[in-house]
Amino acid sequence: MLYGDRIYLRLMEEKDIPYKVRWVNDPDVRRTLNVDYPFSEVATRNWLQKVSADESRRDFIVCLVEKDFPIGYGGLVNIDFKNSKAETYMAVGHKEYWGKGYAADIRKRLLEYAFKELGMNKVYSYVWSENEKMINLNKKFGFVTEGLLREDVFYQGEYRNIYIMSLLKREYLENNLDPGSLIGERP
Ligand SMILES: CC(C)(COP(=O)(O)OP(=O)(O)OC[C@H]1O[C@@H](n2cnc3c(N)ncnc32)[C@H](O)[C@@H]1OP(=O)(O)O)[C@@H](O)C(=O)NCCC(=O)NCCS
Repeated sequence: MLYGDRIYLRLMEEKDIPYKVRWVNDPDVRRTLNVDYPFSEVATRNWLQKVSADESRRDFIVCLVEKDFPIGYGGLVNIDFKNSKAETYMAVGHKEYWGKGYAADIRKRLLEYAFKELGMNKVYSYVWSENEKMINLNKKFGFVTEGLLREDVFYQGEYRNIYIMSLLKREYLENNLDPGSLIGERP
């Protein structure tokens, strides 16, 4: 498990499926996610069976320490041990927990896991160009925008622009893990 002060991340289990299905079917949560919907429990169960044996990814459920209660999910996918890089994803599924710093807590734990535990050299993230929250959060942690993928995905009736953002291990170590210590924004 990955422990923080307020949250912990554990690998996703069958018992977590109803939470994930409810969250991803919520239009507000799904609005900035690149997922095929609607989501069903049976399809999610099949997906979990498959990915839990896949060494190239780690899929976590995020729980509040205080209430031992799931509020979101996140993980690493496309873990590439040869090139030491991985893609990261996350969502705070319970909207009432938005804006309280939980995404930052999740980001912190996932980066710690990727760089310190798995020995990754680079962590990257694909973000809708209109997802200001996620873009700001990534910048806060020192992520650099590598580029904009123009009209890359057709989603909910529109072609979407997507930023690819990344953080290198040396940048992560320079930032000393503490986003509060970052001054200004990287380009
Ligand atoms: C994006 C998401 C994870 C943010 O979660 P959150 O818990 O509200 O975020 P936090 O409270 O930890 O805020 C972290 C940072 O995000 C940014 N942020 C938060 N709310 C913001 C807003 N309304 N506008 C712009 N930036 C915002 C800020 O940089 C903030 O840091 P600050 O507290 O110093 O201002 C959440 O809204 C979510 O799950 N959305 C749906 C799924 C999704 O978009 N996932 C990401 C796919 S790439």
